[in-house]
Amino acid sequence: MEIKKLRAVLVGAGNRGCVYADYSLQAPEELTIVGVVEPNDIRRNDAAARYAVAKERCFRDIDEFLRAKLDCDFVINATMDEMHYDTAKALMTAGYNMLLEKPVVPNREQLLQLQAIAKEKGVKVNICHVLRYTPFYKRIKEIINAGAIGKIMTMELNEHVWIAHFLDSFVRGKWNSEKRCGSGFLLQKSCHDMDLICWLNNATQPKKVVSVGSRAQFIPENAPVGATEFCYHCPHNDTCLYSAQKVHLEVDGMPFQTWMGMNKPLNTITKEDKAAWLKTSDYGRCAYNSGGDINDRQTVSVAFENGSVASFTMVGGTNKPGRYIHICGTKGEVEGRLEEGKFALRIFDRSGDKFWYDEEIVDVNKDVVNSVEYGGHGGGDYAIMYELVRYFNGDESSVSITTIDDSVNGHLVVYAAEESVKTDKAVCV
Ligand SMILES: NC(=O)c1ccc[n+]([C@@H]2O[C@H](COP(=O)([O-])OP(=O)(O)OC[C@H]3O[C@@H](n4cnc5c(N)ncnc54)[C@H](O)[C@@H]3O)[C@@H](O)[C@H]2O)c1
Repeated sequence: MEIKKLRAVLVGAGNRGCVYADYSLQAPEELTIVGVVEPNDIRRNDAAARYAVAKERCFRDIDEFLRAKLDCDFVINATMDEMHYDTAKALMTAGYNMLLEKPVVPNREQLLQLQAIAKEKGVKVNICHVLRYTPFYKRIKEIINAGAIGKIMTMELNEHVWIAHFLDSFVRGKWNSEKRCGSGFLLQKSCHDMDLICWLNNATQPKKVVSVGSRAQFIPENAPVGATEFCYHCPHNDTCLYSAQKVHLEVDGMPFQTWMGMNKPLNTITKEDKAAWLKTSDYGRCAYNSGGDINDRQTVSVAFENGSVASFTMVGGTNKPGRYIHICGTKGEVEGRLEEGKFALRIFDRSGDKFWYDEEIVDVNKDVVNSVEYGGHGGGDYAIMYELVRYFNGDESSVSITTIDDSVNGHLVVYAAEESVKTDKAVCV
């Protein structure tokens, strides 16, 4: 199809916002960034330079941006979780189409309100459920839609969050407290998986949820005797598996998060600066006394209206990270791991004297385009922008495209699961 070049405004020029806006550098004939809204001077100026945005199109906040009445095809709203409701509401009310980061909002009322505003204003709101766009899950969805495995009966999924990632984001980092950032672990990290469960099985509706989980590992009672508040002078620093010095200073796998609070361009921060900062910053704290309050493990069981069921286990802190999926249908099954980029498709075969299955390994590795420095979500970060450009150009054929209507169920399951943990009861969605 012929692609008309789209104009986007970046709202929140942090880590995620730049991942999406970078598509304008990878495919400049398809997307251009025409404005930046960002209160932080360094990030706003960096983004303006990176995407060649004129000074008069850079804004410190949404009000300033709205007053300028800048025309564009959509905005990329990549502000932090707790800002999604206010920013999305203001932008949608002003009539802007929006790519909105997940989690949409932390509760049912706000979610339904945003959905209603999108409908009333006739704006397109697409949620960054990037996993849907990965060649891995997209291919599974196409297989389901084609009827190859029949009607879905059972789904088993898990998410194993790598321990270094867990420590960086959820033990010491900006998502370690539901009170502070508005999202618990399930909402922040695994709303992707709840979305997958509902989207893959969207021939029916989720009905009831049971969930158990707690913060059981990174709690003060588990700290070794004599552990100090900060790791740098702790007697256990050399032996503790979760030492801040080791994971943040030496492994340093998520620098865009760990050192962000220093408010300096990343490439100007030396190892000495980092070591000094770890002496006072939350990133230098004992993992058991980090002030975090979110669960570090949780399971969720979902019953659907048509009798099918799904189960999900989220593990905060595994050696090997990964996501597993096994879907059993009436005619066949799918089983695989996202990280391997391939899955087994088994079709029951009872022809002749057979009562077994034919197995095909579906390998999607060649379809993965991963052009980000860290992560990339199995190609989903790139693919969502590729597909969004086509969607805004009138192509609605992708199975992955997520309007806000499509994303409601996954979030409702999260809210029900969190309520189930708190009340110790099954909760209707
Ligand atoms: N889709 C995914 O897989 C995925 C992965 C990680 C994070 N996320 C989500 O992406 C969102 C952003 O996360 P991040 O790590 O990029 O955060 P970040 O802190 O790096 O970026 C957020 C930016 O928003 C700016 N900001 C604050 N107030 C603003 C306002 N009123 N208007 C405009 N900008 C404002 C901040 O200064 C910051 O630069 C979060 O909601 C997070 O949960 C999604």
